[in-house]
Amino acid sequence: MSKILAIHASPRAERSHSRRLAEVFLSAWQAQHPQAQVTRREVGRALIAPVNEAFIAAAFYPEPQARSLSMQADLALSDELVAELLDHELLVISTPMHNFSVPSGLKAWIDQIVRLGLTFNHTLDNGIAQYQPLVTGKKALIVTSRGGFGFGPGGDLVAMNHADPLLRTVLGFIGIDDVTVVAAEGEESAERTFAQSAAEAEQQLLALARIF
Ligand SMILES: Cc1cc2nc3c(=O)[nH]c(=O)nc-3n(C[C@H](O)[C@H](O)[C@H](O)COP(=O)(O)O)c2cc1C
Repeated sequence: MSKILAIHASPRAERSHSRRLAEVFLSAWQAQHPQAQVTRREVGRALIAPVNEAFIAAAFYPEPQARSLSMQADLALSDELVAELLDHELLVISTPMHNFSVPSGLKAWIDQIVRLGLTFNHTLDNGIAQYQPLVTGKKALIVTSRGGFGFGPGGDLVAMNHADPLLRTVLGFIGIDDVTVVAAEGEESAERTFAQSAAEAEQQLLALARIF
């Protein structure tokens, strides 16, 4: 593993727990791989525009090689984000849970990188669309922070967690099936409850930094 792409999705800077925890992982990993490259892409504090009609028309244009200059311009950011993703081996996404899912900036990034012909394809089988992932050889690490408690596997609130399943589904759809989730929970609980959960997440991340 020589290149990591870190996507930071919290609108918060220093006060963001998911961002801080991801940076713990990145520092530990970089200490072991001083020559390796970490690229950071801000999607929480920098606006990625939601897809619009022009984007959709250009992205799904039936003859990609014949796209007009204006269509190419509509896809310029998406092309850049896809190339950036394809150029790295490990994807680290730091994200809060916002209203049981991911913040809108991360969703906007997802909508830019799920691209027909670049990260997935589809064919027709008896008239029914079949999808094929195009991304190979990558892993993902999701580092998340939640205000509530019990959204993880086996937890009381797991059915309300639409963040981890969304990320696993989208990443799997484009071909990234090896996905690890590390969560700190309970920011809105007692201070010591969250401190313990965050400390456990940190230990997991330090262990992962040794094996990734
Ligand atoms: C707009 C908004 C929506 C939130 N929705 C949820 C939620 O659905 N479930 C939850 O457990 N916490 C929720 N929280 C709390 C955050 O997940 C929690 O504060 C988390 O630590 C934020 O991550 P960050 O510190 O990286 O910004 C919400 C916070 C905000 C600001």
